[in-house]
Amino acid sequence: MIRYTENDKSFFLEGADFTYAMRVDSNGYLTHTYYGAKIARADLGYYRPENVRSFNPVIPGTKKAYADIMQEYGTANLGDFREPAMISRSVSGDCTADLRFAGYYILPKKHAVKGIPTSRGGETLVIRLRDGYNGLSVYLYYTVYEKENILTRRAKISNTTGDTVFLERALSFTLDFYGSGYEVLTLAGHHAKEKYPQRSELHQGIYSVGNIRGTTSANHANFIALLTPGTDEEKGEVFASSLMYSGSHYESAEVDESGRVRLSSGINPGSFRWKLDAGEEFETPEAVLCYSNAGLGLMTRQYHDFFRRYVINPKWVYARRPIVLNSWEGMHFSFNSERIFETVDKLKDSGVDLFVLDDGWFGARDSDRAGLGDWYCNEKKLPGGLRAIADRCAENGLGFGLWIEPEMVNPDSDLYREHPDWAVGIPGRPGVPSRNQFVLDFSRQDVVDHIKHVIGDVIAGSGACYIKWDMNRPLTENFSHLLPADRQGEFQHRYMLGVYELAEYLTKRFPDILFEGCSGGGGRFDGAMLAYFPQIWTSDNTDADDRSMIQYGTTLVFPLSASSNHVSISPNIRNGRATPLGTRTNIAYLGTFGYEFDVNRFPADEFARIPADTARYRTIDGLIREGDVYRGNNRHDGNDALVCVVSKDKKRAVAVYLQALNPHKMNPRFRIPGLDPDRLYRVDELNLMLPGSVLVNLGVTLPRYRNDFGSTLLTITAVE
Ligand code: GLA
Repeated sequence: MIRYTENDKSFFLEGADFTYAMRVDSNGYLTHTYYGAKIARADLGYYRPENVRSFNPVIPGTKKAYADIMQEYGTANLGDFREPAMISRSVSGDCTADLRFAGYYILPKKHAVKGIPTSRGGETLVIRLRDGYNGLSVYLYYTVYEKENILTRRAKISNTTGDTVFLERALSFTLDFYGSGYEVLTLAGHHAKEKYPQRSELHQGIYSVGNIRGTTSANHANFIALLTPGTDEEKGEVFASSLMYSGSHYESAEVDESGRVRLSSGINPGSFRWKLDAGEEFETPEAVLCYSNAGLGLMTRQYHDFFRRYVINPKWVYARRPIVLNSWEGMHFSFNSERIFETVDKLKDSGVDLFVLDDGWFGARDSDRAGLGDWYCNEKKLPGGLRAIADRCAENGLGFGLWIEPEMVNPDSDLYREHPDWAVGIPGRPGVPSRNQFVLDFSRQDVVDHIKHVIGDVIAGSGACYIKWDMNRPLTENFSHLLPADRQGEFQHRYMLGVYELAEYLTKRFPDILFEGCSGGGGRFDGAMLAYFPQIWTSDNTDADDRSMIQYGTTLVFPLSASSNHVSISPNIRNGRATPLGTRTNIAYLGTFGYEFDVNRFPADEFARIPADTARYRTIDGLIREGDVYRGNNRHDGNDALVCVVSKDKKRAVAVYLQALNPHKMNPRFRIPGLDPDRLYRVDELNLMLPGSVLVNLGVTLPRYRNDFGSTLLTITAVE
């Protein structure tokens, strides 16, 4: 709900459990007055979140210190020395912005932003700020999602100055908290170790994460949260932000000398400049703020509902997803038609729905050294082309899926030989390879158009009903042959706009094809990508134990159905860890399920279990897609992990338990969170019938495991 009260010039944005309040002060500044548990719509003008009283610059002609104004969109150069949301530099070099309230309006329905994916939504508050000295306008956008306790924020900078300005910083939001003592939570890691939680105390100074790699990155998720001390799965206040963007990003929590905290997120200013000519506008990506008064568990459930209801394509979000077998870990580049036919023949009646032909099917792509960019099927390897494989799949009752990496080019490719200037690089300097490839310059319309046409035609002719879109290197050099010198700083964001344009085009042209995102695993797993790809490959690490940690961080924010998880061979090819098939399967069940191995090397007794395991997934997959996640322990904090998915009506639940090392003679025991205490439940696997209150508070014990990495899946059903 959005309310404005004229007498004290206050805005109240209200979700089910939170209030977010702003107020226009006597000098015309839009100040942030409150964010937290729901409060009455009182006049909050009495509250003075003032700064330490020493040598503070004041508004000319007044005694009011700039540092005392908790500006809703923090600006630079006027005496608030904290991190600004925006820096705009005029042609004369003036980078001051004195933004004051200039009106507001409420849109009945949220507008889509041109070129950047945003969430769908209703009533949206738009506040206009204006610098009365140079005329620059900033529009702040707020949409409330009441049930989910979510507030989205973004900004539009409109150059109404009459002359060019250069944006040096344009974050999606800054947000001030008056209290101190918060902890900060971020998700960090690297390739094959994505989204490990990092939690620490905040002290005076700036805690920041982010990157300038041109992708969301495996190194830092574009997520940051403030937590009250002691916050756990079930208790504590959480103020989180997840940015709907897939390029370089920046998140920070700054504690100033008075203990006040400023949270910010947006496009990373370290790799961003934007020339805004007179009359032009710049739109920031959208940040999704989530408030929870019941710990990280509630934050997760609210984020899951939000991304399912307002971001992921409604056609796919709750739809049954194919169980795939992906060729990569089993075959890498060494395959031919014979090997593929043998594989798909063996999958007949296994419960696997779709065979995915990963990297290596096109051009001279026999290794990662050549062929990217040459999007035609290598008929020497695959006589009859992709159609022949799709047909063979169909004969076995399987769908066909195909891997692409449209943003890239190998220097050893026909495309590069023909159009060397289409690759990102600086004239006179050697191009910087990564995995033997260069990045195509997606800031160029001609490049995006070429790829639209070529990839579009390949997909159309392939018979595929699933596409895995990969992106396997960071951006470097950040230079386009077409951009003028004073616009080279725009390269990274323009690149992202090109990627979104291609994603929009392909997903619209092929509405019946399921697209899966990927970037060396979970290197570009973010809310914006979910707008195009209902599921994303979570990590190149398929070891069950590591995966339980990677999936923990990934599904802290994103729905289980978005996390694509495959069972692979044991010992794991990446870390050599041996885990039982049951454990690999249970962990992969906690998302969109599939397989990834060589059918001839997978042990026969394990292969024989696939029909039963796929059938079992089909008994729980609706719950996985639609249910609420409750967590017990997790492997970041101890030796075991528990994830419980409960249906919205609390009639069904599935709990997956994992124990890493097998302790001496101790039965695993855990509580089952999220059940209705007043219902009676049957736990099939343990042959138990117990009230919810008992399962929630006392829990269950399991028979001892005989090995390390034991796991159990419990199906729990309410007895009517
Ligand atoms: C990336 C992906 C893998 C696979 C390979 C192919 O690493 O994450 O799943 O597709 O590329 O080159």
